[in-house]
Amino acid sequence: MTAASDVRILDQRNPEERDRPFLPGMGKTWLLPLYDVFTRVAGVRALHERAIELAGIAPGQAVVDVGCGTGNLSFAVLAAQPDARVTGLDPDGAALRRAARKARRRGVSLTLVQGYADRIPAEDASLDHVVSSLALHHVDDDGRVAFTHDALRALRPGGKITVVDFGGPAQGAEGARHPAHGHGPAHALRHLPGLIRSRVAQSPAVARNLGDGIVALLAGAGFGDAREVEHVDHRFGRVTFVQATRP
Ligand SMILES: C[S@@+](CC[C@H](N)C(=O)[O-])C[C@H]1O[C@@H](n2cnc3c(N)ncnc32)[C@H](O)[C@@H]1O
Repeated sequence: MTAASDVRILDQRNPEERDRPFLPGMGKTWLLPLYDVFTRVAGVRALHERAIELAGIAPGQAVVDVGCGTGNLSFAVLAAQPDARVTGLDPDGAALRRAARKARRRGVSLTLVQGYADRIPAEDASLDHVVSSLALHHVDDDGRVAFTHDALRALRPGGKITVVDFGGPAQGAEGARHPAHGHGPAHALRHLPGLIRSRVAQSPAVARNLGDGIVALLAGAGFGDAREVEHVDHRFGRVTFVQATRP
């Protein structure tokens, strides 16, 4: 018999954090209703599935999905490993409510915590995995450093962090091949992936992930074996899969 679905949202923000700004999934809070459709069309699900394959989560393991948004990476964890104990963390309450509705519809158990990447909701050395998808480039410089230190604290020795995001070695002048103006809606739609790709490549937020940005960030926190394990040339930009293990 399958256990009943248990879905809960916890608010771990302290009073000062209630007004703390964050960059939402689509850049603007009012675009959230489009997030799932947009990412489905953009093929993000395949990135999630690959990240979870690479993570190699075993039955019963404790996983925190940092910057979980509407929960799609968490659902990829639960699809691959239904017995994993998954917690999604995100400052966006509206995204978490969407994730909760989806979890109930799917009949899976999921804990959702409203909070920031720099305070992972887990005891010291209690997690088997930290996973994060397309979220690191939403976190500012101090937040990124604090996130990796807190991931090291929360993972048990041998626990693994798997980050998938735009980044890795740069690929030249992205904008040049994708003109920003066109001739009508059909033209604009045809060129949308190119426009997004050039915006992603030129984004100061993504710039921090370029080169060995994510690998160096993890190494700086004390992960000894941080490395890019794979990359995908997605139509919106180069996507890197970076992993490291807590020594
Ligand atoms: C592009 S979305 C990715 C959502 C999801 N991981 C996915 O792959 O579909 C980026 C997410 O990062 C979250 N975010 C922004 N700042 C954050 C922070 N400081 N800590 C944790 N998450 C943050 C946003 O609210 C948003 O849900």
